[in-house]
Amino acid sequence: MCGIVGYVGKRNATPFLIEGLEALEYRGYDSAGIYVAGKGVLKRAGKVSVLKSCTPSDFIGAAGIAHTRWATHGAPTENNAHPHTDATGNIWLVHNGIIENYRAIRASLEAEGVVFRSETDTEALAQLVGKKYRELPILEAAVAAALSEIRGAYGIAVMSTREADKIVVARLGSPLLIGMGDREYYVASDATPLLPHTRRVIYLDDGEMAVLTSHGHSITSLTQAPIEKGIETLEWNIESVKKKGHDHFMLKEILEIPEVIENAIRGRLDLENSHVHLGGLADAEERLRKTKRIIITGCGSAYYASLIGELLIEEIVGIPVETEIASELRYRRCTVDPEGAILIAVSQSGETADTLEAVREAKRHGIFTLGVVNVVGSSIARETDTGVYNHAGPEIGVASTKAFVSQLVVLALIALYLKQCHGTAETNILQELTRLPDYARSILGEREQIEEIAAKYAGMQNALFIGRKFQYPIAYEGALKLKEVSYVHAEAYGAGEMKHGPLALIDPEFPTIALMPRDSVYEKTLSNIEEIRSRGGKIIAITTGSTPQGMNEVISVPETHEALLPILTTIPLQLLAYYIARSRALPIDMPRNLAKSVTVE
Ligand code: F6R
Repeated sequence: MCGIVGYVGKRNATPFLIEGLEALEYRGYDSAGIYVAGKGVLKRAGKVSVLKSCTPSDFIGAAGIAHTRWATHGAPTENNAHPHTDATGNIWLVHNGIIENYRAIRASLEAEGVVFRSETDTEALAQLVGKKYRELPILEAAVAAALSEIRGAYGIAVMSTREADKIVVARLGSPLLIGMGDREYYVASDATPLLPHTRRVIYLDDGEMAVLTSHGHSITSLTQAPIEKGIETLEWNIESVKKKGHDHFMLKEILEIPEVIENAIRGRLDLENSHVHLGGLADAEERLRKTKRIIITGCGSAYYASLIGELLIEEIVGIPVETEIASELRYRRCTVDPEGAILIAVSQSGETADTLEAVREAKRHGIFTLGVVNVVGSSIARETDTGVYNHAGPEIGVASTKAFVSQLVVLALIALYLKQCHGTAETNILQELTRLPDYARSILGEREQIEEIAAKYAGMQNALFIGRKFQYPIAYEGALKLKEVSYVHAEAYGAGEMKHGPLALIDPEFPTIALMPRDSVYEKTLSNIEEIRSRGGKIIAITTGSTPQGMNEVISVPETHEALLPILTTIPLQLLAYYIARSRALPIDMPRNLAKSVTVE
């Protein structure tokens, strides 16, 4: 979704601002703009490359802010692109989030004669800051006064033509980081633009603002009370956000899966003593022992990972688990007794608005919250009571691949940990977890076969994904991946549901991707597949062990414990989606209409 960068210091801000916008492109956007002190503003609809190509070589200044906009209020036009200004042209502001009461603010300013130039909610805030600035020309005071009248979510960076060496940033519900340089500051809405420049950062928390100049910085509350904040170190490095010779981040990230599994289990498994160490959960052990009920939540792929988490915990630990999409959970009446209840929130970015709100809602009801998050220092990581990081490294491709796999690994670790809190170990699964990186390597080693299958089916209009038990959520995840990157209409069903309706769809042009490893429901799935085959349907089977008869295509994955098989069977589905999208020459890493991190509801 929208992205913010800013710079103030001794050097020319423009190169960082443009490169920063490029680094944020993966988040999804449809227009971009830049403001540089002493030079003014440039905005363009479309790609950052368009903005870059029209930026004159003398567009130079020691401070500036820039933005990529993912349209919410108003079309993706040049006019609606950020930065926005006020009536005098003194104030320049970029904003992520949504100003909920912008209509009322706009109406009252228009009644005072202010003329608006865009359809955005953001301009209402820029105009309001402008009004306050005309009353008291100190930028931070004007920003604080304006924000006290705002309802909604924001991460903002604001400049004034009259205080050219100053950027004021503030946050409520939309992330902002300050990168610390040598008498220079970088601002970004996620860590990726900062990585080539600094790994020393301050994470702004909700309700905080900062004033940055080339002489220093100060952090305060929105009422301008001083706040002391420590400097933290970013875990990621610059190499992790490069394509390293691959055509797309999606393929690079799928190929990283063996390493991602290793990183998720590193230092967490003690095979000799059949023990799982999860540092983040150590303090919560007593509470985890007393857990009677677990709710897991997430959105999209994270929700499908949550469904597998549910099966893992129920099978391994025997505690009742309920999984709910975060956008539904947050609006349901909460009937959960907080005593002995835990909410697990699964989110790669740690910024998904619905998941974050579900966490807040659970906390309001006194429920203990646990985050399964990839981005260190993200909102969900900070707001949950405890958590386990994925350590999957940055995921740039919009479609989640390696992070989804790491979510499954971490949820398996949490299930084993809960079992351990209840006094027993699950040695077999523990051992098998350590073998997964090699199993994943062997699947990736056979990727040419999947590429060939993809070439054969690239023209299909529809696809059906089916699976049972542990493979049921993987069927949904496989269908989502195919839809997202290749725009093929894909449906997913529990294999046992076929006779209850979806069988009517089957014809020779509507292939089924059947998840049918030799697990405890293999025979059942096989008979569901026979129903499809006998109606002329083509089958692409994802299986383990000896090749089943009569399938049109067979992709084999190594055998392992059935609770861990989703970690393997999802890999061929990711590759299939990738190769089909590639044969259709689609923008795989940034599919149309999608954003990497969904920070608005
Ligand atoms: C699908 C995908 C999305 C995300 C969802 C949640 O490939 O990436 O469905 O899984 O938007 O995002 P996070 O995990 O960041 O909360």
